[in-house]
Amino acid sequence: MAKPILVANWKNYPGSLAEAKSLIKQLSKDRASYKNLAIFIAPPLTYLDTVSEYIPSFARLASQDISLLDQGTHTGVVTPEILKSFGTRLSIIGHSERRELGETSEEISKKIRIAIRSGIAPLVCIGEKTRDADGEHFEFLRQQIEESLSGLNKNFASKLAVAYEPVWAIGSRAKEAIDPADLSQSVIFIKKVLADMFGRKTAEGIPILYGGSIDVSNATGLASVTGIRGFLVGRASLNAKTFKEIAKSLTSK
Ligand code: PGA
Repeated sequence: MAKPILVANWKNYPGSLAEAKSLIKQLSKDRASYKNLAIFIAPPLTYLDTVSEYIPSFARLASQDISLLDQGTHTGVVTPEILKSFGTRLSIIGHSERRELGETSEEISKKIRIAIRSGIAPLVCIGEKTRDADGEHFEFLRQQIEESLSGLNKNFASKLAVAYEPVWAIGSRAKEAIDPADLSQSVIFIKKVLADMFGRKTAEGIPILYGGSIDVSNATGLASVTGIRGFLVGRASLNAKTFKEIAKSLTSK
């Protein structure tokens, strides 16, 4: 049975290298709690070196985005080659906070291919902005998935993971996360869209993670939803104790 997946999206926190070092040290002390999970940490790029020093004992490195450009004269760009040289194994692609900055589904589908060619697994984020009683958000989700994964063949599709992150649930307090019944509906729907695109067998192999206000109080309920392989955690991943508790919810499911 494949291990549950837990991804920490540190965004642009902690605010200093010293704090980042202290957080990764605390996390590595808890390494025994993470041994039955596939853990990924996505720190700000400037902390890659420090984090990569402590990470091998319990987790793998991830990036919060990936560049569309390969090595060349591109000022300000961190290429997939550079990420790879630090040991980056997974890239969060198409996070809603990047889509908000203007990233298009076309760019996202290119980034997915770039990541796979670079030997980095893409974790593709999707999620509706609002949820309505008529279920119109499902149409939005279908379109976003189809556009973000357009042009991918089955072979590429089999290498990706999907993070379902309803935008309205991100960065809120724990009680504003999705409820398990609604998450269950969304997972069934996402699987159906993936099966329509790539066939049932490939779709079944694509891990689906949930992200959006995951915290200690809601992790167990959401982890128990059928079809959820793990979590993409923002705010709560910045506290080693909380992160450990969230990990427990996935291993005891
Ligand atoms: P949150 O962030 O856990 O703080 O809601 C999740 C994310 O943005 O990936």
